[in-house]
Amino acid sequence: MPTVTMVGGGQLARMTHQAAVALGQRLRVLAERPDDPAAQVSPDVVLGSHTDLDALRRAATGSHALTFDHEHVPTEHLEALVAEGVAVLPPPQALRFAQDKLAMRTELSARGLPVPAFTVVESEAAAVGFGEEHGWPIVLKAIRGGYDGRGVWMPEDADAAAKITAEQLGAGVQLLAEVRVPLKRELSAMVARSPYGQAATWPVVETVQRRGQCAVVIAPAPDLDEDLAAEAEELALRLAADLGVVGAMAVELFETTDGTLLINELAMRPHNSGHWGMDGARTGQFEQHLRAVLDYPLGDTRPLAPVTVMANILGAPEAPAMSMDERLHHLFARMPDAKVHLYGKGERPDRKIGHVNVLGDDVAVVRERAERAAHWMSYAVWTDGWDPHE
Ligand SMILES: Nc1ncnc2c1ncn2[C@@H]1O[C@H](COP(=O)(O)OP(=O)(O)O)[C@@H](O)[C@H]1O
Ligand SMILES: [Mg+2]
Repeated sequence: MPTVTMVGGGQLARMTHQAAVALGQRLRVLAERPDDPAAQVSPDVVLGSHTDLDALRRAATGSHALTFDHEHVPTEHLEALVAEGVAVLPPPQALRFAQDKLAMRTELSARGLPVPAFTVVESEAAAVGFGEEHGWPIVLKAIRGGYDGRGVWMPEDADAAAKITAEQLGAGVQLLAEVRVPLKRELSAMVARSPYGQAATWPVVETVQRRGQCAVVIAPAPDLDEDLAAEAEELALRLAADLGVVGAMAVELFETTDGTLLINELAMRPHNSGHWGMDGARTGQFEQHLRAVLDYPLGDTRPLAPVTVMANILGAPEAPAMSMDERLHHLFARMPDAKVHLYGKGERPDRKIGHVNVLGDDVAVVRERAERAAHWMSYAVWTDGWDPHE
């Protein structure tokens, strides 16, 4: 049975390992630290940095495919690996558009696809000029390396834009500016594609962001217009084929207040907006990602319930005195149907340390239960005032 190498030892690699176990495969991880979430569970760990070509080579040796739990590997390293015969999947010429937000915006607008108005920012004057032209606030973004809202700023006026631009350019961060889109909500269209060219989408989901970070996902997106849903799935399928993506890809979308779709960003790997499918779909994204990079036929993506809600367990500002283990006991006592996934990470404010999936029929009921469960796991407080010791 094949070995797949995943670069990065985070929770995405950990959950991909979990899927590899079921398929009788081996997931080798390139992890920075032995206690990274995936390094804790894989028997096949290469310790090293994703910026070190030799470490990447060691991790790739003897493996059938090299894939990713984040997009931070330098493109030139990936090209070197390809030249040495490593099956880098997704290939670097596709992955580029998930690594570099300017390249992605430029490519997609050249293809006539809907993206927010944007420009590259190489001076304070460029940021201020963009705001004067398009109206404040604007959005400034790090072109590379951002995640979970780190690398996104929304200056309200020219002074704030100039300050952020000076600071970031001064620190060597490349920037783009784009209009702040009037959002009805955010959506994600996920797809997986194999080298053979087979592709399968999951239903389009709604993603709820808090402080720039995904907090809740509702699958499928409630009350989404059928035509918009079809448009989003077709967009994901077309992008996956046209860019030559292999593996899972999330297309993060904005649904605007006037009912149109704009593409926000692409992630070419398992993605937080696909975690619901671990329990809520016949085939989840981690198994599908492995099937895709190994060029197996893809699995059935159908949902198993009318509604699945995924709520992230985020580190509280101060870790509760009650242990995680005890919190889990109480949660299971109260909600036997809640499916919990913990990542083996220490609790730090706003850090993604796990998630909860709840399935059901009624969006409002399922969402309240999933969020109540996740909040309990984060804070050891029940949002409805219930006390386990009363
Ligand atoms: N142009 C925009 N207009 C409105 N909100 C935005 C815009 N760009 C980003 N955001 C908000 O910030 C979040 C994070 O931005 P994103 O570009 O997806 O960065 P990250 O790589 O950190 O996920 C988005 O999910 C959205 O909530
Ligand atoms: Mg994003």
